[in-house]
Amino acid sequence: MAYFYDLEYRHNVQDVRFYLEMARRTGSKSRILEVACGTGRVSQKLLEAGFNVTGLDLSAEMLRLAEKKLGESSEEIRQRGRYVQGDMRALDAALGNQQFDLIFIAINSFQHLRSQADQLTCLQSIRKHVAPAGRFIIDVFNPEDKDVFATDGRVEYAAPLYNPLNHSFIHIFVSTMAYPAQQKRVHHYFYDETFEDGTVKRTVSLFHLRYLYRFELQLLLEKAGFSIEDLYGDYDFEEYGEGSPKLLYVCRRG
Ligand SMILES: C[S@@+](CC[C@H](N)C(=O)[O-])C[C@H]1O[C@@H](n2cnc3c(N)ncnc32)[C@H](O)[C@@H]1O
Repeated sequence: MAYFYDLEYRHNVQDVRFYLEMARRTGSKSRILEVACGTGRVSQKLLEAGFNVTGLDLSAEMLRLAEKKLGESSEEIRQRGRYVQGDMRALDAALGNQQFDLIFIAINSFQHLRSQADQLTCLQSIRKHVAPAGRFIIDVFNPEDKDVFATDGRVEYAAPLYNPLNHSFIHIFVSTMAYPAQQKRVHHYFYDETFEDGTVKRTVSLFHLRYLYRFELQLLLEKAGFSIEDLYGDYDFEEYGEGSPKLLYVCRRG
């Protein structure tokens, strides 16, 4: 699964420019933590740009790919990068009392926490690791986007992917079920790897995302001890407004 995820998202760089700019604003020597870093899609780019980055993720499989990218980098980059396994609801267990000048959780990963209680626990855990003058950035889907809950679970073709490892093609189909009263969507990703002899190998990834509305997330952030510095609606630093695809909060320790 991690391999398919990486293949699908490795060229997704829209948000990378945003985090590079925020890292620059925080300072070239800043200590950065990416929570739920996955296969290192964003963290590796920050490392290549000269920043000190720690990536944390629950999945050993995702981290293996992130570590592979780091291992193939120059000695100088390897010195500045580190990946650790841990749960975003209990960062102390993985990070002790380390603090960071910039912590972020990218591309809706926070929504993998399926209850409000878990989401608050996570924010409280993160806050302890933000240095006194540091920042925290969280990026989630905007549930006000009109398409979010207008989905009925039917399977749709998403994209073809070329797999350079064995020269097969992977066709991705997605089924999304919406539960607006619970602020949830359930996604099935079907990765159909097709071979020249006509056989197909299907790998299925199932995950739930819990959505937060603007002021629910703001209240949770404030309850966890953060103060809000900015709210953007996309990665181009556009102010949040009607129809914004994202809720992108930039916070201070409070
Ligand atoms: C959508 S991927 C995003 C990966 C990466 N941030 C990126 O931008 O490509 C979501 C990641 O969240 C991680 N994750 C889910 N629940 C987690 C938890 N409780 N603690 C830490 N990581 C978690 C998954 O293992 C997965 O790597």
